[in-house]
Amino acid sequence: MIDIHCHILPDLDDGSADMDESLAMAHIAANSGIEGIIATPHFRGEEQGLAQLPKILSRYRHFVRALSRTDIPVTVYPGAEILCLPQTPRLARQKELPTLADTNYLLVEFYFDESAEYMDGILRQIGDCGYRLIVAHPERYAAIQRDPALADRWNRLGYALQLNKGSLLGAFGDRVQSTAVALLEDGVIRLIASDAHSIARRTTDMRPLRQWLSRECPAEAAAILLEENPKRLLRNEELLPTGPVRLSL
Ligand SMILES: [Fe+2]
Repeated sequence: MIDIHCHILPDLDDGSADMDESLAMAHIAANSGIEGIIATPHFRGEEQGLAQLPKILSRYRHFVRALSRTDIPVTVYPGAEILCLPQTPRLARQKELPTLADTNYLLVEFYFDESAEYMDGILRQIGDCGYRLIVAHPERYAAIQRDPALADRWNRLGYALQLNKGSLLGAFGDRVQSTAVALLEDGVIRLIASDAHSIARRTTDMRPLRQWLSRECPAEAAAILLEENPKRLLRNEELLPTGPVRLSL
């Protein structure tokens, strides 16, 4: 299993506080069946964003070195979670956005209350620059909660939608959970990831998610979401659709 969205790099954003916590997050991940993690610290696509890039990369290398001195069997790949701001398309045109694991894929997010029109416009402009887009946690956006058809449209446009583990398990409340379930059932989700931030809350432990999926979700769909598509992402290949998913809730 590969976790494609994880705030595991130390002391960079609101994720891991220090190297000890980062290594503990890797240890927890490995014990729950994760063999690869894409490190995705928050990246704000604004003026100061450019100064962030060298810092993210040097922190990534620092973490990889520390991890190599342990026996934790996890490979960590570089990446970022890009907050889409009005300036982000310009960085996309200049090819100055950090991709996932040296592929063509970007992991993007929005403020939760952005309008559908705004998000549509930004996604189209960034996509036009030749990047493949993964939209982080669509179930947390108000526009999707009001109108899940927007997620269906994004899926048809080729944007890969990524659910958070905690959303399905109810960590962000009923509204997010019911939206997450609806999107999964509609077959518009291509990936599920931890979006882990620490060893306490929102962790890298994937066992509760696996247990939930093995209880509620057909095995073929769960395998596409957790195994096949993350591997395809790392190979810079198209991600597979699950088709409509019949949950046994
Ligand atoms: Fe995140």
